[in-house]
Amino acid sequence: MTRTRSEYRLSPVTVEPPSAERVTRRVLGTDRDVLAALMLDAYRGTIDDEGEDFDDALAAVDQYVALLQHEHSFVVTEDDRVVAMAFVTVFDGVHYVDPIVVAADRKRTGLGRDALRMLFGSLVSAGVTEVGATITDGNTASEGLFLGLGFARRGPWG
Ligand SMILES: CC(C)(COP(=O)(O)OP(=O)(O)OC[C@H]1O[C@@H](n2cnc3c(N)ncnc32)[C@H](O)[C@@H]1OP(=O)(O)O)[C@@H](O)C(=O)NCCC(=O)NCCS
Repeated sequence: MTRTRSEYRLSPVTVEPPSAERVTRRVLGTDRDVLAALMLDAYRGTIDDEGEDFDDALAAVDQYVALLQHEHSFVVTEDDRVVAMAFVTVFDGVHYVDPIVVAADRKRTGLGRDALRMLFGSLVSAGVTEVGATITDGNTASEGLFLGLGFARRGPWG
């Protein structure tokens, strides 16, 4: 199946507090396996699922971590379990959310939206006024999440 992606932007970046108290911390080198497992779990059965195995997920994590902006990127924990990751990268001078991922059993509880709100707070504190995202067309969960936060679709990505 050929997938297409679209680009979304939010400008100016608006900040609202998260709906609940969330525990976050910076990404550590020791998170590699945990993040790979989180990604496999979260993407399984979604339109982005290409049947990746653990090694594929590790490679994806390595790519994301190599590019991430540490000062704006974090994981969300609940009882020391990593339940979400929210990473920021910079491409062509624009800050992008890449990726936002929530554990399957914690989806649809407001965690993704809260993680993005906290991420936007970090960006705005650093003077960033615009944030982008690229989303696979048909990823209805992600489209709903970003549109609901005020993002507008700019057009096809790439
Ligand atoms: C996309 C994702 C991060 C959303 O996280 P989440 O914590 O479940 O989202 P939230 O509970 O904060 O939902 C916020 C809003 O997003 C939208 N949304 C979330 N899941 C949705 C779904 N399955 N279908 C439609 N809309 C959805 C809704 O508008 C929702 O608001 P509502 O619950 O008040 O209706 C999560 O589904 C995920 O990890 N998916 C796999 C990884 C992925 O695709 N990441 C995005 C890469 S760009």
